[in-house]
Amino acid sequence: MTDLPFSFTLPMPQVIPSRVDNHIERRLSEMRGQFFDLEIYDKMLATEDQLIYEVYEIKRPEVEGELLMGVSVVHPGQVGKEFFMTKGHFHSVLATSEIYYCLRGEGYMMMETPEGITSIEPLSPGKVLYVPPRWAHRSVCTSRLEDLVTFFAYPANAGHDYGTIEQTGFRKLIFDGVNGPEIVDNPRCH
Ligand code: F6R
Ligand code: ZN
Repeated sequence: MTDLPFSFTLPMPQVIPSRVDNHIERRLSEMRGQFFDLEIYDKMLATEDQLIYEVYEIKRPEVEGELLMGVSVVHPGQVGKEFFMTKGHFHSVLATSEIYYCLRGEGYMMMETPEGITSIEPLSPGKVLYVPPRWAHRSVCTSRLEDLVTFFAYPANAGHDYGTIEQTGFRKLIFDGVNGPEIVDNPRCH
């Protein structure tokens, strides 16, 4: 052991709301077909069904006029070179929006419209992101040690359409590149 100065990173504790009505855990096994490298996905799954992300929901009646809110936590990790991310979805009531406030970590919100317009916005603590009506959205954690933690709120009657993204994929993928996160076209997107 030397007497040289040193430093290390101490990951911050999770931000969990003091009130939680529903806690969702999404594991690797529930994300089949969503990560690009299917072979590495299968290999990882054979070793461990890792926890990819969690959602802490505050329940309200799912009717027009109400808002649903909560906290989303995407854990750091990769499937091959692709960063851990949420499934991503359109809202079933397409003309509904959502607001995200980033509390911790680094990442991106990947968004696209049914017409194929894409927008990828960086997320870092303090950033407020408005997802307009009609845009599908997926959070991607690019921190190596920290969770990507966001607060979200959206109309309670929005509903979730996961099927469209499951079938077509997002038009872009985010990989761990030589010089940081790299956004590339998804060759499988149709
Ligand atoms: C709700 C919303 C977020 C996500 C959460 C998990 O409309 O966008 O609360 O539900 O970030 O992502 P998904 O729902 O894509 O698994
Ligand atoms: Zn949403």
